[in-house]
Amino acid sequence: MLNKDSILNHLPQNLKNQLDIHVFESVTSTSDIAKELALPNDKTSALVVSNHQTKGRGRLNRQFISPPAAGLYMSLLLPALPLDRLLLATPAAAVAAAEAVSKATGIQLQIKWVNDLYIDKKKVGGILTEAVTDYKTGRISHLVIGIGINCQDAGIPSDERNIIGSLDAPEIDKNLLAANIVQELDLVFQQIKIGDISFMDKYRHHSNLIGKTVTVYKTHLSQEDAIDATAIDIDNNGNLVVMFQDGAIAHLSSGEVSIRSK
Ligand code: BTN
Repeated sequence: MLNKDSILNHLPQNLKNQLDIHVFESVTSTSDIAKELALPNDKTSALVVSNHQTKGRGRLNRQFISPPAAGLYMSLLLPALPLDRLLLATPAAAVAAAEAVSKATGIQLQIKWVNDLYIDKKKVGGILTEAVTDYKTGRISHLVIGIGINCQDAGIPSDERNIIGSLDAPEIDKNLLAANIVQELDLVFQQIKIGDISFMDKYRHHSNLIGKTVTVYKTHLSQEDAIDATAIDIDNNGNLVVMFQDGAIAHLSSGEVSIRSK
């Protein structure tokens, strides 16, 4: 059972003091609630977790299936990173989730650039980073980092079970997992703020794309401009580095292209 006190018990004192925690039985999306908590000029961080989401969403407005009690659905509201490092928030959260899952269960998650969490061929979770803009200044004041991890297969539609999976850990302590993710992400955010991006080595280590053939779509998944390439690296800005068949190399930003692995 998700429980605020239990999450607090697993957090170190500094985060206990900083984090405003909200636990729900069912919400549309934890990220909707987290956004509502953002106040201009407020540096407080918040964590929103729910047992169920009726409108869980992923990147590109895709649905994130969030059946009751079957997953960890959490969103963190955090003061924004510096503008030139904003795009590192999603890789940072992916690393934090992978490290926390590894510590809690021993399971090694793979990261499919840029935001999907995988076990073998199945997606078991994902990250959705959204920005909150201060309407007075027009500046990004906060980030809402939504993290979803399927803990068990229950509730995954049968026709999706070949592509969507879970940790297969129904007994996992979601309070501990949520607290561990918060702690890992806080650590990486502190590092990013002082210019230490060594966490990107972990991101590359967890990547399941490096060395693989991918199809790059300039317009999201439109067949017209699909080009095959080899994923050769992920750079320290979080861009996917690909080599096309003519030997040309490009650094692709997740905002500009979609990719499909072969
Ligand atoms: C993706 O698959 O592209 C990202 C999925 C992110 C899902 C999480 S679950 C908690 C938070 N609330 C949402 O509606 N989405 C994120």
